[in-house]
Amino acid sequence: MSKPKLYLTRILPEEVMDYISTKFELRFNMENRIATREELIEGIKWCDALLCLLSDKIDAELLSLNPNLKCVSNYAVGYNNIDVAAATRLGIAVCNTPGVLTESTADLAWALMFAVARRIAEGDAFTRAGLFEGWAPKLMQGYDVFGSTLGVIGAGRIGSAVARRASGFNMRVLYFNRSKKKIDNCEATQVGLDYLLKESDFISLNIPYTSETHHIINEKELSLMKRNAIIINTARGACINEVALVEALRKGLIAGAGLDVYEHEPEIMPELLTMQNVVLLPHIGSATYKTRKVMGLLAVENILDVLSGRIPQAIVNNEVLAKIN
Ligand code: GLV
Ligand code: GLV
Repeated sequence: MSKPKLYLTRILPEEVMDYISTKFELRFNMENRIATREELIEGIKWCDALLCLLSDKIDAELLSLNPNLKCVSNYAVGYNNIDVAAATRLGIAVCNTPGVLTESTADLAWALMFAVARRIAEGDAFTRAGLFEGWAPKLMQGYDVFGSTLGVIGAGRIGSAVARRASGFNMRVLYFNRSKKKIDNCEATQVGLDYLLKESDFISLNIPYTSETHHIINEKELSLMKRNAIIINTARGACINEVALVEALRKGLIAGAGLDVYEHEPEIMPELLTMQNVVLLPHIGSATYKTRKVMGLLAVENILDVLSGRIPQAIVNNEVLAKIN
């Protein structure tokens, strides 16, 4: 039997590439950059399944190019880059990688909390620049994480994992979630968003990006936060109004921000680049050797399942399965 055709929009870690090559007839973007629209068009026209990244915008026009396209598998948990409604209409399964990147992303949210609160990146740059002239009473004072209040927005897998870590730091944990929800193995209190914003010293965003969460943090929300508040975003950039965030930081309405994602990624508002109380990362929440490998294997398994009529581990639009096989 001939192997199914897979178009991959970017080279993945080696173990994943090795596995893919045993299972598929493969075409892929060999350059170390995001695939162009022309490349996506050609690849999609040719393949049975597409393995893509969160930086590939897979819209209705692309999805309509090939009536034989059966599966779009995102190498990410967030899938706001894919027009899922169009895929569902066209009978194309959309899959993602939930679960496997939860702990790595929660670790990174915490890394950002510490980096901003204790001025890690700034201190490192200062030291490397040869500016350290000895211990000094007022050098690089920051904020305590231990004993402070953490507010988690979104009590899904990642938000819950962020919240759970707080028990090691004697923190009061508040969380906001649209529906009523308990976080297992965690002493935390579900509260309204405004209350969370007013009470928290650290605020972590752990929600998917949808029309409902677009700019969930805007001017008003920023104005409710404490002056010492530090906001952490490892979710999607456009959950925060970046213009309003810059303004709040500039005016000192909040103390700092740790960002792994940006509203117009990979573009970043230039003002952010000049601010010392901001730590900026290049969207690396899931970027550990282990997690990026496991994500790849899950993304591939999802495709193999769809193509052979099994129910995949992670499908976003279940309702298409009946139509595919
Ligand atoms: C990363 O941002 C992901 O959604 O997996
Ligand atoms: C994503 O995996 C989430 O549920 O937070």
